[in-house]
Amino acid sequence: MEQNIETLQKSGRVIYPPAELKAQAYIQDYEKAYKQSIEDPEKFWENVAKELHWFSPWNKVLEWNYPWAKWFVDATCNISYNCLDRHVQSWRKNKVAVIWVSEEGEERIFTYAELYRQVNKCANALKALGLNKGDRVTIYLPKIPEQIVAMLACARLGLIHSVVYSGFSAKALQARIQDAESKLVITADVGYDRSKTIPLKPVVDEAVKSCSTVEKVVVVQREKNGSALTSEKEIDWEDWLKNQSTHCEALQLDSETPLYILYTSGTTGKPKGVVHVHGGYMVGTYITTRYVFDLKDEDVYFCVADPGWVTGHSYIVYGPLLNGGTILTAEGKPDYPNPGRWWDLIERYGVSIFYTTPTAVRLLMKFGEEWPAKYDLSSLRVLGSVGEPINPEAWEWFYRVTGSNKPIMDTWWQTETGSILVTPLPCVPLKPGSATRPFLGIEADVVDRDGNSIEHGGGFAVIKKPWPSMMRTIYNDPDRYLLYWNTIKGCYTAGDVCHKDKDGYLWFMGRADDVVKVAGNRIGTAEVESALVSHEAVVEAAVIGKPHKTAGEMIKAFVILKEGHTETPDLIQQLQDHVLNELGKIAVPKEVEIVSSLPKTRSGKIMRRVLKAKELGQDPGDISTLEE
Ligand code: PRX
Repeated sequence: MEQNIETLQKSGRVIYPPAELKAQAYIQDYEKAYKQSIEDPEKFWENVAKELHWFSPWNKVLEWNYPWAKWFVDATCNISYNCLDRHVQSWRKNKVAVIWVSEEGEERIFTYAELYRQVNKCANALKALGLNKGDRVTIYLPKIPEQIVAMLACARLGLIHSVVYSGFSAKALQARIQDAESKLVITADVGYDRSKTIPLKPVVDEAVKSCSTVEKVVVVQREKNGSALTSEKEIDWEDWLKNQSTHCEALQLDSETPLYILYTSGTTGKPKGVVHVHGGYMVGTYITTRYVFDLKDEDVYFCVADPGWVTGHSYIVYGPLLNGGTILTAEGKPDYPNPGRWWDLIERYGVSIFYTTPTAVRLLMKFGEEWPAKYDLSSLRVLGSVGEPINPEAWEWFYRVTGSNKPIMDTWWQTETGSILVTPLPCVPLKPGSATRPFLGIEADVVDRDGNSIEHGGGFAVIKKPWPSMMRTIYNDPDRYLLYWNTIKGCYTAGDVCHKDKDGYLWFMGRADDVVKVAGNRIGTAEVESALVSHEAVVEAAVIGKPHKTAGEMIKAFVILKEGHTETPDLIQQLQDHVLNELGKIAVPKEVEIVSSLPKTRSGKIMRRVLKAKELGQDPGDISTLEE
């Protein structure tokens, strides 16, 4: 690890924020603001909360029953009210809330008033199905505005949404519907990817076959002449909304009311349903969007995430709308129809804040600087990166092609944290490759296994105090929640390896556990392994992450075959297709190697660390527990 750190920190370059940007930023002196916030975090968060609308106030800011937290105790609020009603009642009524662009350039624009109407109609339609507060709704949609409308409509009624990324397979979708016991699934007939049509409805059909809780399936029909409806259970989205009123009162909810479940990978084969609540999540996403990106009313904010992931939840939907921002969201890939796609959108819509991922930057780097050079990118003010470490080379490229004066906010956070926890602000001096310092009110640190703070050097990333947008539990599995707070005494353990330099800057190095980040997507090696062993030819499998030039990491699988099966290119393909079927495209191992044994401890646990070291030609470290 030390070697990696040296490579990362090699440039030693510090980039100071442009004076004009700093002069107009919300926060101009980070050190002072941070010190103040941390002296009395509850006061800091309370002051933030006061900028939002509450139907009734809290009696207490925080109730901390280690490790269970309640924020804004006994207050009532609704995040959808704060995203919509607050703005519709102000001058922002006719301000553009969302600009959506399809792959083919079709444009749909929603003012705050129009988004309010659509969300209210959808909420009334949900009510008409007899859904009640606390019921779960699974949203399996491509990146289209209905995804945002459905999320906000659920929130309005206190229904819990579970958005499932539309690249997941039927089996993965089924597991998530079953765990949440959803009564309703909202989907579309198709999605589009590089002009190819991707059928989604058949995936849902397959998934709901064994989901007895699902009463109805609503389908957004995008294809012109087709009808995707095949059973009594199914409703066309347009018909569903058609006669509904454009007003539906937002429910006054206790601030701890669950807002959503979002499934993410961990170290076991079963995904965990991370639960976030209205009050604290609203406060965290609101203020981070505001301070990190310095989001102002004049900005056009472009986040490339899909609402199927947490970045989309927090930084396409909730955070920007809470701030009354104008959001650009685009279906499709960064290199389709050509590698100028995103640069073109930035020029066309005058984007001033651009939040993207290291994988996308590395992909665009491959096509060369001539692509960004063709476009006028002068509207940009602040850039962002998320999801995985950004290597200094990609950082420098991104900085250079956008004009060498737009600071990059390398934001570190997780599905579980709800909002950004470690990040620069536009006034903070940057070091390419470092997420810099904790956000206001957040006590992040690097510690050893026993929880001792490391002055400078490598260790585990932890958060020492609760924060409002932290997850409240893992759905149906509170014990798994406890693990986050039990691994290192007294702290929330993120599962990341991190280095603290002499200036207190944090350099996130990757996961400390068996989770792989492929193109920023989180995949548990155990999930891929259990998918592989469910194939008839496989007796045992071990999966590791391996460095990849564009995607950051890729999946490699080592597989032991059952007696009677032999290695052929066809079998390898079959195994990859099998994982595709079980989990979806993002989890398919790029490399599959057939082996006759796997390194194991005497108690029979596979030592993936040893496999990885061998694969990368590194020293495997302590192997005293190795059986053979
Ligand atoms: O390893 C860290 C990495 O992504 C993990 C969280 O993944 P997920 O829950 O899918 O959320 C992704 C979007 C927030 C973390 O444990 N990670 C996220 N951001 C960064 C990062 N690693 C390094 N630098 C980052 N900026």
